[in-house]
Amino acid sequence: MPRDVPLQSLALLLALGACSGSTAAGAGNAVSAGITNLAPAASVPQPAGWADDLALRVPTDLNPDPDILEINLEARITEMEIVPGHKTPVWSYDGGLPGPLIRGKVGDRVIVHFRNSLPDSTTIHWHGMRVPNHVDGAPGATQPPIAPGAEFTYDFVLADAGTYWYHPHLDSAAQVNWGLYGPIVVDDPAEAGMFGDELVLMLSDMSIDETGAFTPSRTGGAFGDLFGREGEVLLVNGKVVPELLVRQGKPQRWRIINAARSRYYSFRFSPGVITRIGGDGGLIERPEPANLIKLVPGERTDVVFTPQGNPGTEMTLLWQPTDRGYGSTFNRPLEPVMTIRTVSDAPVAPARLPPELRDVEAIDTVGATRQFIDMTIISVEDDAVSMGINGIDGRHHDHEQVILEARVGETQIWEVRNDTDFAHPFHLHGFFFQVLDPADPSPEWKDTVDLPAKSSLRLAVYFDNRPGLWMIHCHILDHAELGMMGLLRVLP
Ligand code: C2O
Ligand code: CU
Repeated sequence: MPRDVPLQSLALLLALGACSGSTAAGAGNAVSAGITNLAPAASVPQPAGWADDLALRVPTDLNPDPDILEINLEARITEMEIVPGHKTPVWSYDGGLPGPLIRGKVGDRVIVHFRNSLPDSTTIHWHGMRVPNHVDGAPGATQPPIAPGAEFTYDFVLADAGTYWYHPHLDSAAQVNWGLYGPIVVDDPAEAGMFGDELVLMLSDMSIDETGAFTPSRTGGAFGDLFGREGEVLLVNGKVVPELLVRQGKPQRWRIINAARSRYYSFRFSPGVITRIGGDGGLIERPEPANLIKLVPGERTDVVFTPQGNPGTEMTLLWQPTDRGYGSTFNRPLEPVMTIRTVSDAPVAPARLPPELRDVEAIDTVGATRQFIDMTIISVEDDAVSMGINGIDGRHHDHEQVILEARVGETQIWEVRNDTDFAHPFHLHGFFFQVLDPADPSPEWKDTVDLPAKSSLRLAVYFDNRPGLWMIHCHILDHAELGMMGLLRVLP
């Protein structure tokens, strides 16, 4: 569309921080030319109150052992003001949006005494984490649904450094949209101080109208089903367009989580602003300069943001549409997500990142078993869309309808195919995989990956010693709830 061109440049202009003049590039050069006169980033703090708007609640640790985080967590309805002047009955963890930040170091034990004070049954799934099977939170597969008024204790060890999240696994398109999600960070003490100050940014959206009421969960009929429903209100850490204060040149680490039920997030940046350092399962091998951040639902990315806006200027971080098939980007406006204000203090000299972050060993695929996985749309009728994996509608799944099997100690190569007209974020519970991409051989630990329309991917998975039933599904939660989910049985 002819409109695309001006829109793209607008995105660049705004996302890059050139809001108050046309001389951003020139000023940027002047700054780099004079860089030796600037104080080193490490010796200058972030602006006072820089991340106050984005603060996350932390739970009370009931256990005196420094290696155990033991908490109470209650799911309940809490009225919140999301549309100014109106109340929304948010489904919350502990009365906040998002839920409290669960944070510990690798090897710590986490005990969550969960209480369901919602009107419906629920469970908690620890997205991306290698937890024991019985606490994975998949109803019907690893535990019964937790009924209203009932309690369940989740108890596991933090196995891998990285950024994760938790959310319900029952009626999830609705429950996640209503507010049930929270962040998890697992620290590797070796990373301490490596990337400077840090921010966890939990992105989500919510389907509410101008009076703050939730719109019905299944609006738009088959059309809404096929596209997956995106909420009108975009939230970062539960806030509408929060403000972040930054200092030119002073880096900060952003651990970004896409907790939206269906929305893909893409952001564009000018060169030198963003460096990708990690993804779903911790750090990647080497820092990668990036101009685009893209997160499918469920996915995480870890970046270092080095602000380049001139002192005293303001920019808007803009959501931009991502192609997820079938005209999904057509005529869609850019949407503001966060305001980034560069304080007027003197800039600092940007810090350098270590050239090597860590070794990520490639999964050895010699002798691996091959499996085929097909993301399918089985039938589309006005009000009855059926989706599945390998042609099986997962809504009717029971223990007999295991779509894949593996053995503890086995490595498999999965050929995942999407012959539909819509993109699907492919997610595996409980185990990381590596995408076998001949164009980019550097391995990375992932649990969620985009599968664009009419495409296929090869993944390598190694099954460690956690037998049981594990879910595979599309993380567009509307699709998962329409059957695009299935069970993998890992045999002892
Ligand atoms: Cu976030 Cu079944 O997953
Ligand atoms: Cu899907």
